[in-house]
Amino acid sequence: MNIEPEQRATRRKPRKNKYIPNLAALGFKPSEDWSIEEAKSRYDLAVFPFQVDRIEYSDCVEGMRNLPDESVDCVVADPPFGLSFTGKESIYNRDERFVRSGYFEVTKDYKEFSRRWIGELPRIMKAKSSAWIFSGWTNLADILNAARDAGLYLVNHIIWKYQFGVFTQRKFVTSHYHVLFLVKDEDKYYFNKISHYPLDVWEIKRTYKRGEVKNGTKLPEELVRRCMDYTTRPGDLVLDPFMGNGTTAVVAKGSFRHFFGFELNKGMKQVIERNIAKVKLGEFYVPYSQREDEIVERAKAKFAFKGIA
Ligand SMILES: C[S@@+](CC[C@H](N)C(=O)[O-])C[C@H]1O[C@@H](n2cnc3c(N)ncnc32)[C@H](O)[C@@H]1O
Repeated sequence: MNIEPEQRATRRKPRKNKYIPNLAALGFKPSEDWSIEEAKSRYDLAVFPFQVDRIEYSDCVEGMRNLPDESVDCVVADPPFGLSFTGKESIYNRDERFVRSGYFEVTKDYKEFSRRWIGELPRIMKAKSSAWIFSGWTNLADILNAARDAGLYLVNHIIWKYQFGVFTQRKFVTSHYHVLFLVKDEDKYYFNKISHYPLDVWEIKRTYKRGEVKNGTKLPEELVRRCMDYTTRPGDLVLDPFMGNGTTAVVAKGSFRHFFGFELNKGMKQVIERNIAKVKLGEFYVPYSQREDEIVERAKAKFAFKGIA
């Protein structure tokens, strides 16, 4: 029986995994790696032109104007989304007793707000620096345009997919954020390739701890850690203009990175300080070569029977 090419294609079993690991995966090594002692030493020896590992409770635009030129290695920014969000909305199904009020939202002209704070970044970034900006989809265009106008180069547009969103009746449930990986200099930016096949869709669960006081927009530590791991070295300085619960500070301290940042809501000071105090220096740090890489593991399984792995 003759089988037409189209029929042959449909008879083939679909691939279970989109990426078939090859021999190269077996030899994978991160571009740079440090033992715990080396990472701690880099942290201890780092020097900065201003006092770091602290947060100023003031407006970030004014605050960033006072920072020296080319003084930060990385920016992690999770600005208010301009959605009239107070963090206490009942649709979010949160227990209001544990939500800190005083969240500063942007009620008008999100475009101008984005232009003002993103416009401050290029001057304070080094040539090797990156900026990670989080955004929902409603005001994404304003952020993308502001970044482009500020001269930042978009390396990747990552989707963070979380497990569930706000229940809807007549539209789809939003269960993703946009994570923009931007750099100042597309030729000089630092990127540590710490996994063999890093995809631009990240599935990371939102974390909820019962009885924890916070503002309602806390990012998962794993998400912030992933950003820092790829574009900073131990001892580097990470700036967060919108500290919220202090997630960036917590992850930086736990990863042997220094931090600095701003938060307009003075009511968050106690929460942030408590969160930073709870984490031990270097607590999350694991040398990259000791972390499990899914593709490398699959390659090992694939080639083991041939005696290669
Ligand atoms: C989306 S939240 C950040 C949440 C944070 N990533 C976390 O994981 O906890 C944005 C924060 O920016 C603060 N904020 C808003 N406008 C600000 C400004 N101009 N300067 C400094 N902080 C500001 C808000 O009060 C809020 O806490």
